[in-house]
Amino acid sequence: MSSKPLFNEMAADMQAVDQLIIKRLQSDVVLINQMGHYIVNSGGKRLRPMLVLLSAGAYDALDARAHLVAAIIEFIHTATLLHDDVVDESRMRRGKETANELWGNEASVLVGDFLYSRAFEMMVEVGDMPVMDILSHTTNTIAEGEVMQLMNVHDADTTEQRYLDVIRSKTAKLFEAATRLGAVLGGRSRAEEQALAAYGMHLGTAFQLIDDVLDYEASEETLGKQLGDDLAEGKPTLPLIYAMRNGSGMQAKLIRRAIEEGGRDLINEVIDAINDTGAMDYTREMAQQEAGRAIRQLEGLPFSPYKQMMIQLAELSVKRDH
Ligand code: IPE
Ligand code: IPE
Ligand code: MG
Ligand code: MG
Repeated sequence: MSSKPLFNEMAADMQAVDQLIIKRLQSDVVLINQMGHYIVNSGGKRLRPMLVLLSAGAYDALDARAHLVAAIIEFIHTATLLHDDVVDESRMRRGKETANELWGNEASVLVGDFLYSRAFEMMVEVGDMPVMDILSHTTNTIAEGEVMQLMNVHDADTTEQRYLDVIRSKTAKLFEAATRLGAVLGGRSRAEEQALAAYGMHLGTAFQLIDDVLDYEASEETLGKQLGDDLAEGKPTLPLIYAMRNGSGMQAKLIRRAIEEGGRDLINEVIDAINDTGAMDYTREMAQQEAGRAIRQLEGLPFSPYKQMMIQLAELSVKRDH
């Protein structure tokens, strides 16, 4: 994936969404404008709005309303990033210093709140109760996911199941909303809506599994984020959980200590243990399976270029390097 439009066929629609995002960032408060533009102009893959457009397109509903919903989804995503970087004490995002690094935690939390509430204003403009229902429920679940994750931090007994619950809530739920909304905008049946929602959920799960791999093995320059943030925070992600469960007694002890203490001191030893136990392959394999499940949800969808791009996106989410 690159920061160029992911699919040329979608360039005009994605540009319309981007223009909408820029326009709706507008506030009379200078700091909001500054920070909002800083993060939005830093790039980002715009994957979630793309998913709204593709799923709407698959149902012949790629219109101004779809653009608005896509922009709303990206606002919510951006708000969670501002908050997430405060919680994770991250210093780099989208290849630049994070907003919290530049303007501080307080400003990041408050501007994140602005983006959330702007998204809700825009939702009311869409004027459709099912759309509001999905989006309000989704933001609620994301918040639950982030809080559940907070409760797992420094807890080396976090199970794979608890980890999966967290990533489905904090990440996959927004992907699910994006694709479900496409079906809703297209006025499709409940069954079709469910299939698209399940596609998004599996895709989002694959996406976060790979994110958690990339946190240990990526090029910082390509990823645009600092490696090792998860370990530094004592976050028990799947590579660690698996390596602890399958490593030697020494390796398990090492990882337990790294999770409990946090910090970056043990990072090299931890990476060795992760590689030695095949934890990366295991995590990638699970992501591959989730992507496969996502693709299978699309079987009932009539053939269209949008459907083809949705299949490709699921494959790319596993192969990506950023
Ligand atoms: C980052 O999402 C947060 C996760 C859920 C892993 P993206 O990797 O989609 O971030 P941008 O928008 O492209 O920067
Ligand atoms: C995703 O988790 C965060 C949200 C869904 C908000 P991460 O904490 O792993 O995301 P990055 O790595 O900071 O982008
Ligand atoms: Mg983070
Ligand atoms: Mg991450």
